Amino acid sequence: MLHAIGSKKELTELEYYVYVADILENELVQGLKNYRHHISTNRFQHCVNVSYYNYLICRFFHLDAASAARAGLLHDLYYYDTKTYRKVRRRSSEAIQSHNAHHPNVALNNACALFAVNAVEEDIITKHMWPLTKARPQYKEGYVIVVVDKYCAALEVLAPKMRMAMQKLRRLKKQAA
Ligand SMILES: [Fe+2]
Ligand SMILES: [Fe+2]
Repeated sequence: MLHAIGSKKELTELEYYVYVADILENELVQGLKNYRHHISTNRFQHCVNVSYYNYLICRFFHLDAASAARAGLLHDLYYYDTKTYRKVRRRSSEAIQSHNAHHPNVALNNACALFAVNAVEEDIITKHMWPLTKARPQYKEGYVIVVVDKYCAALEVLAPKMRMAMQKLRRLKKQAA
């Protein structure tokens, strides 16, 4: 089963899957499941969420949906703990790049080592943290991920809290009945 947050669609049965199957089935990409991301999810699921919504929006606007889907899966392809990186950086006396500036380049290097990455995908991956980083996206698809990445992060953080609130509401309703 492969779903994006907020969607009940089985992604392996959609045209979307044709564009990203090689990435999703890669063992190293699957390894992202071992990294917690945005408190309640893992990095693999976050990348699936971003990839699918990137794809839908770019397809709707007749943009390069395939590159948007592929780059969405690859945009956070890094294998370190974000909190640890930030802690080490804070304590270090050396000038270490911020995580926001650092991880898109790490992700691109890892992506290029595993897959053929085109110019649109490269731009999407390296600029996805804009405007927290300086360089603006060169392509429209790059602006889509800027929004989708933040939207998915917000959903991922809020989803468990909303689930808990709904459970509490149901319990209260039962008690009142
Ligand atoms: Fe990121
Ligand atoms: Fe992300």
